Amino acid sequence: MILVTGGAGFIGANFVLDWLAEQQEGVVNLDKLTYAGNLETLATLKDVKAHVFVRGDIGDSALVDKLLAEHQPRAVVNFAAESHVDRSIHGPEDFVQTNVVGTFRLLESVRGYWNGLPADRKAAFRFLHVSTDEVYGSLKTGEPAFTEETKYEPNSPYSASKAASDHLVRAWHHTYGLPVLTTNCSNNYGPYHFPEKLIPLMIVNALAGKPLPVYGDGMQVRDWLYVKDHCSAIRRVLEAGRLGETYNVGGWNEKPNIEIVRTVCALLDELKPRADGKPYSEQIAYVVDRPGHDRRYAIDARKLERELGWKPEETFETGIRKTVEWYLANGEWVRNVQSGAYREWVQKHYASSAGKGAA
Ligand code: NAD
Ligand code: DAU
Repeated sequence: MILVTGGAGFIGANFVLDWLAEQQEGVVNLDKLTYAGNLETLATLKDVKAHVFVRGDIGDSALVDKLLAEHQPRAVVNFAAESHVDRSIHGPEDFVQTNVVGTFRLLESVRGYWNGLPADRKAAFRFLHVSTDEVYGSLKTGEPAFTEETKYEPNSPYSASKAASDHLVRAWHHTYGLPVLTTNCSNNYGPYHFPEKLIPLMIVNALAGKPLPVYGDGMQVRDWLYVKDHCSAIRRVLEAGRLGETYNVGGWNEKPNIEIVRTVCALLDELKPRADGKPYSEQIAYVVDRPGHDRRYAIDARKLERELGWKPEETFETGIRKTVEWYLANGEWVRNVQSGAYREWVQKHYASSAGKGAA
């Protein structure tokens, strides 16, 4: 049995679905079900006994202690977090609460449980913390990609809170010997991605005939990794990663945002042309930039390849086509996540600070 936190969110749910499709070992899935957590993503697991879903907070020590004692996991994989940079700018408190305080409390619960394990299970136990490339800050054009040695320079409330959580994880290994692993991954995309993030937002807005809001000049660069490749990297690090080490995970797919948006538009032109025959790119609307917007991220994932033999399977071209096809085939999932809370966010964010003429 493993304990996964945040397993009703985008990456966590993909991880749980892939895990249970590939092996017998069960999963206890602890998720608070914030706006970003969605049980519908896990609907196919309704009758799967190997999946135990528990609604709760990683910062609820009594609950986490109880789950650890009851299920005796051999590993914890921590996805739970507030994950959206724009939301962290509007309201940083939740980010500190979950990403920093929550991770701290989770580490303390896990430390107590781990200390009580018999020697063989104690040695085999792992705490894998899922983090981000944003902790390294922003790169200039031509600068080499982030390695595991790059110093932390987080720039947003989100990345600062994730950096703090990474430091806590590191310290719990160094000071208490907790057997931890940390992964720092670039931008994921794929099925079940909440439509507040760039790629799903562009697909959903395009199909709804709304503007496609591109921040600033659209030339900010991200490295994109298909979510299932991130999940396979996490499985590999959990299996064979060296204790206390961090591993960068990336797709070798650096692209400016405007290119991503144009690619999505071109795929939609092909797969679901507009009724009026015009290209979706006509809906692109440049809007006010994100405050403190990091210009470029790039990930050097060679350590993971060299030490653990991991490489992404999807190219951006194959992954983005699968993603657009998934959104076209899953309109109901999209409609259901666009709840009142989602509409309020879109209204607040794009009508005020970030938006100039966007929906
Ligand atoms: P997400 O926002 O889609 O999902 C987060 C999940 O965590 C949700 O299901 C939410 O309900 C749950 N959650 C939030 N607070 C919680 C709490 N206090 N207790 C329990 N559950 C809680 O995020 P995601 O995109 O799936 O990201 C997952 C993890 O991966 C995060 O730690 C994020 O920092 C990291 N990450 C994300 C990306 C990316 O591109 N999305 C890239 C690198 C790293
Ligand atoms: O790099 C990893 C990170 O990637 C993760 O740690 C975060 O959890 C995840 O949300 C993501 O952060 P970004 O800020 O890079 O992702 P987002 O999809 O919000 O934005 C991607 C880029 O697109 C970024 O440069 C901002 C821009 N953007 C985003 C939105 C939502 C736009 O131009 N318009 C938009 O409407």
